[in-house]
Amino acid sequence: KQIIGQKDFLTLRDLSTDTILDLLESAEKIKEKLQAGVEYTPLKGKTLGMIFEKSSTRTRVSFEVGMLQLGGHALFLSSNDIQIGRGETISDTAKVLSEYIDGIMIRTFGHDKIEELANAATIPVINGLTDTYHPCQALADLLTIKEIKGSLKGLKLAYIGDGNNVVHSLMLACAKTGIDIAIASPKGYEPDADIVKFAEEAAEIQGSKVLVTQSPIDAIKDADIVYADVWTSMGYEQENITRLEVFKPYQINAELIKHAKPNYLFMHCLPAHRGEEVTGEIIDGPNSVVFHQAGNRLHAQKAVLVDLLS
Ligand code: CP
Ligand code: NVA
Repeated sequence: KQIIGQKDFLTLRDLSTDTILDLLESAEKIKEKLQAGVEYTPLKGKTLGMIFEKSSTRTRVSFEVGMLQLGGHALFLSSNDIQIGRGETISDTAKVLSEYIDGIMIRTFGHDKIEELANAATIPVINGLTDTYHPCQALADLLTIKEIKGSLKGLKLAYIGDGNNVVHSLMLACAKTGIDIAIASPKGYEPDADIVKFAEEAAEIQGSKVLVTQSPIDAIKDADIVYADVWTSMGYEQENITRLEVFKPYQINAELIKHAKPNYLFMHCLPAHRGEEVTGEIIDGPNSVVFHQAGNRLHAQKAVLVDLLS
């Protein structure tokens, strides 16, 4: 039976706690099959179109490989090469692609664009990152935490840095699964206030907390998981010089990490900039799980693909 219960996977907002936990369980089972060498091809004959308006390594490769492993096929559609780049509307593109393929994964800028695409498409649309959300990342992050820590509820995650797409989805993921999340961002770079409010309400039901502060030390105190993302996200490159200055006190380094629990996990969605948001010592150190985390993109997304496309 279908887990997600809706056509698209655009944000974690509308997904219940049980839905998220069921998706994680499905991802674990799909991962076990792969590791045991058991063929599992429920998407035989199915095709996923992958539209990219921004660069990608993990998302592109994990979706393409995921489709292949599930018996289907993926098409890489760079926005420079398809007619979207020359002004064909999103909604015409959605309607045309709906005639050929079984699902669309898109990485784009404004979240309104993915909503427009999903509304016009008759096939499922999966969010491969917008300026506001990155739900596939958050799902893979939960899978990683669950695998390593054994459970989710009651843990504390500290996110230090830009209040961006990654932390928006991570905040919803944590709130809905009972993980306390503490976010430290510089003034003017806080996460979106509406999403924070939404997450706070979800956290209250789980008996967990959402803290937004400007103090990295307050956020990281006794954290089980310490999470970082780049200081300058794709699309914000012109702000890079200012951001390098503003975010300097938010670097995760040996000094700051002393305030986390000794057995903390270090996580990062990647790509990383060593010497900016995190020092090499931490991201390449014994507590870092960033490559395990990147690997889980494949397994988490396969659960979404099977659920929406089969
Ligand atoms: N974390 C992530 O989405 O990586 P890519 O930009 O390489 O897809
Ligand atoms: N916040 C980053 C994440 C990249 C995976 C960006 O949007 O560029």
